[in-house]
Amino acid sequence: MAGERKFRLGVLGSGKGSNYVAIANAITAGRVAAEVALVVSDVADAGILAQARQFGHAAQFLPPGKFRTKLDEEAERAYITALQTAQVDLIVLAGFMRILKGDFLRAFEGRVINIHPSLLPSFPGLEAWKQALDYGVKVAGCTVHFVDQGVDSGPIIGQHTVPVLPDDTAATLHARIQQAEHELYPAAVAALARGEVEVRGRQVWWRK
Ligand code: GRF
Repeated sequence: MAGERKFRLGVLGSGKGSNYVAIANAITAGRVAAEVALVVSDVADAGILAQARQFGHAAQFLPPGKFRTKLDEEAERAYITALQTAQVDLIVLAGFMRILKGDFLRAFEGRVINIHPSLLPSFPGLEAWKQALDYGVKVAGCTVHFVDQGVDSGPIIGQHTVPVLPDDTAATLHARIQQAEHELYPAAVAALARGEVEVRGRQVWWRK
């Protein structure tokens, strides 16, 4: 219906923003019933901000403060205010390289999701595709999950698998996993936007 309020996304990213682009393209193609209300980065010259401007989405650099792996208190408040002011329904972490905790998660309880480049709970943390290759697994993949107080530990919304091939390098495996991410993340956001995702503790099911 004309004038009906759309489901609003807040996107946080620190890097090139290929997952954000996949979601933005899926919105344009009509596969995700949502709009990007705001893109925020903790890195002033992050590719994701340039991409957002190309899409005509509101994009903002917000300084992270004095820590390396998390937001300091003042920065956390600024992030919360920006996202609340943008009236976001869902916060989509797309390569955001800082751990979010406490006040931030309480402000957006159950409404923060992340994509991780491994089949969790295997290989949480950094360079997960390299961890998988070094370990010698034969199946790798990606996971979309709700964000909780831990690192890559929240309830799993969806996973896609990819094979690990004999000649793989960290770079080729990473590229294959990223392709899978670009399918999975828009699909998960679409299901959440349609209200089709049911959460029962750690069990998360898509009703369609
Ligand atoms: C993705 O591989 C995602 O799994 C991880 O960070 C990366 C972000 O890539 N959380 P991009 O900025 O979306 O290209």
